[in-house]
Amino acid sequence: MKHETFDIHYPPIQLGCEKTSILYFDTIQELTEKLKENTSNALIVTDDVVFHLPSLKDFFAGIPTETCLVLPAGEKYKTIETVLSILERAMKLSLTRKSLFVGIGGGVITDLLAFAASIFKRGARLELVPTTLLAMVDAAIGGKTGCDFKGYKNSLGTFYPASKLYISPEFIQSQSEDEFRSGLAEVFKTGLLFSEKLVLLMQDEKDALLNRDQRLLMNIIKRCAQAKAQVVEKDLTEKNIRMWLNLGHTFAHALETVLGLGTISHGEAVAWGISRAIALSESIGLCAAEYREEVFSMLKAYNWSTDKIHPKCIELKIENCSEKLIEAMKQDKKNIDSNISFVLQRGINDSIIEKISEDKIRSILS
Ligand code: GLY
Repeated sequence: MKHETFDIHYPPIQLGCEKTSILYFDTIQELTEKLKENTSNALIVTDDVVFHLPSLKDFFAGIPTETCLVLPAGEKYKTIETVLSILERAMKLSLTRKSLFVGIGGGVITDLLAFAASIFKRGARLELVPTTLLAMVDAAIGGKTGCDFKGYKNSLGTFYPASKLYISPEFIQSQSEDEFRSGLAEVFKTGLLFSEKLVLLMQDEKDALLNRDQRLLMNIIKRCAQAKAQVVEKDLTEKNIRMWLNLGHTFAHALETVLGLGTISHGEAVAWGISRAIALSESIGLCAAEYREEVFSMLKAYNWSTDKIHPKCIELKIENCSEKLIEAMKQDKKNIDSNISFVLQRGINDSIIEKISEDKIRSILS
């Protein structure tokens, strides 16, 4: 049947702000001094762990109670209900789209608050203070926002970069070992993708790194931010090269879903996911056995699992683990059709995205 078509062409959409300025501080004291300069009318959102950090006591004491929303900490609160609770507080305070939303916390808080800011009156101003290594090197950079939904990680969300990030590695001193190591897994991922120097630093300075040497941490955070900036400046909305940042994540998100969100740290799942992605790369002839061995030896040096079946699946007696993982992978946001896509590597800093058959996936999971 004949029909008439009329196209509407749009100017490029500006998501939230034109640039993100990353402000680095040696100490939390210096960071909060700067933050205080423009947060008098802001909605501040944090979690109950960060709220009680001794290093932030004076800062929070100076903020009116109603403009500071303290959420329960943890992945299990990364829900649409929590996003709504932020929006309710913003409405109660009669905020406008010119108002500033400030998120102080790890990746859960920065993702949730940024999501709320992005949909509040079609977009409020946003600044973030990532307090975990993972949020500093990955989650808070590049504008991904969101919450979990129906058991699937980050299945609701938007792209909405913060105009400012305030970073101090001093926050990392108060992280639990689990949380700290979770961030290290994202550093390793960034190194494999974009910076051999980062991988060498993790290899040569392992003891200093595990002792949380602050100068080394600052060096690593800056390198990760630079690497991620180069990706998101070219592909903010994940149409092409940003997908590489999901190295290990298709396996990791599936594992987190199968185990129950929050059962293991995101980074531990990512580290195992990297081992599976590299094993898959070798199994389809993409990378040499030597490369797989080098990656495995780094993962093992940091006590991350490279087993086909993650030890937590065995500990929790998950039956038919590989089938459950494959089912969960089919929900992955990167899939463009019914096939499952993976970020794979030919070698260090040499990545591609490939669709892989279920049989091939099964072979590296059981
Ligand atoms: N965490 C992956 C990304 O920001 O694209």
